[in-house]
Amino acid sequence: MLDLHCHILPGLDDGAPDEAVSLAMAAMAADSGVTHIFATPHCNTHSEQKNYRSASLIEAYRSLQRRIDEAGIPLKILAGAEVLARGSFFRRLAEGDFMTLNGSRYLLLEFYFDEAPDYMEECLSAVEAEGLVPVVAHPERYFCIQDRPDLAQVWAERGRVLQLNKGSLLGDLGERAYDTAALLLRREAVAAIASDAHHVRYRNPHMGPLLQCLEQRFPNADPVLLLRETPLRIAKDLSL
Ligand SMILES: [Fe+2]
Repeated sequence: MLDLHCHILPGLDDGAPDEAVSLAMAAMAADSGVTHIFATPHCNTHSEQKNYRSASLIEAYRSLQRRIDEAGIPLKILAGAEVLARGSFFRRLAEGDFMTLNGSRYLLLEFYFDEAPDYMEECLSAVEAEGLVPVVAHPERYFCIQDRPDLAQVWAERGRVLQLNKGSLLGDLGERAYDTAALLLRREAVAAIASDAHHVRYRNPHMGPLLQCLEQRFPNADPVLLLRETPLRIAKDLSL
């Protein structure tokens, strides 16, 4: 499996606080059958560390890979970022300041939970105007999508990639997120499911419970497609 969305880089956001936790996350993911993790620190937020494209960010992916290799954990780190569509988003987008997923055309985007649908559409269109494909992180967590799941379904029909969070399907992120995730999955609007892990203790990168949940509750969902083939096509910059 490939995990499309994970806050595994140490000390760059509210994910892994240090290298020890990053390595524990890597080991946990690998134990559950994950071979590649896209390291996607929050980017363009109000926090001190903006995580725009930079030599130091690129060194952060490489440095973690070295430590993972030294620890003998069979896992590859791929570059990425989870870009918040707010603030200087449009200018930064035009200037190419965001790390796409493994350098591909795919850009992982997140919105504030209470964001307005018109603004979201504006952002998605702007990404496409740059020749990129938006990957919408956890659409099931946005209030407007919880109110009107059809909006996300239309996005998917227009080629926007919908990425659900493992925690939403496991019921860890509230009933509304679960209901919306389940509905989008049953309507086949979902392209991928990722851990969005921040630690090993909570919101962790172990994929076991997710696989069990898919098998028991969503027999029509294809875990190979959602957790391996689609993220692999993204990593290879292929169309979906
Ligand atoms: Fe995230």
